Amino acid sequence: MQQREATSDLASSGGARGGQMALDAAQASPTPAIAATARILARLKDQPGPLLPVLHAVQHELGCIPASAVQTIAEALNLSRAEVHGVITFYPHFRSEPAARHKLEVCRAESCQAMGGDRLADHAREALGCDFHARSPDGNFSLEPVYCLGLCAQSPAVMIDGRPQARVTPEKLDRLLARTLETTP
Ligand code: FES
Repeated sequence: MQQREATSDLASSGGARGGQMALDAAQASPTPAIAATARILARLKDQPGPLLPVLHAVQHELGCIPASAVQTIAEALNLSRAEVHGVITFYPHFRSEPAARHKLEVCRAESCQAMGGDRLADHAREALGCDFHARSPDGNFSLEPVYCLGLCAQSPAVMIDGRPQARVTPEKLDRLLARTLETTP
């Protein structure tokens, strides 16, 4: 029993040393995202349950949680990359890429689907060049599904940057997207 506890203590202190060494190296990194992540870890890693506070702080500072930050966080907290990645993907709040400048939400609920919502969704994918839950390659729009905007009587509906739009045809969507870029590029 005593031997097992000693072995366990050794393993955890070795893991802690490994984590600290990784953190020291990361703070000296020439990559700004890694150095910033390491500074946040140095500040927060010793508090109880540090992973979520660290993820929030990294996203706040960098705008997202890039892959290089995942590696740094995993090493400093003695977690696997898969564990950190699993938490990031579990919470919709966390992003692996910077947010797009604008957000297009297309209603995928029943009433809108019955009124041409599938065609509109296909058109949105094609116009933006990305699928749902992704950003357009130019970074202008993110495309997200939404399930009823309360505009069922005026389906199909979308929302752009929080503004609902009713009876949206593919042609109308093109105009709305172009106007969004003109007014707030
Ligand atoms: S189903 Fe689309 S707004 Fe209600």
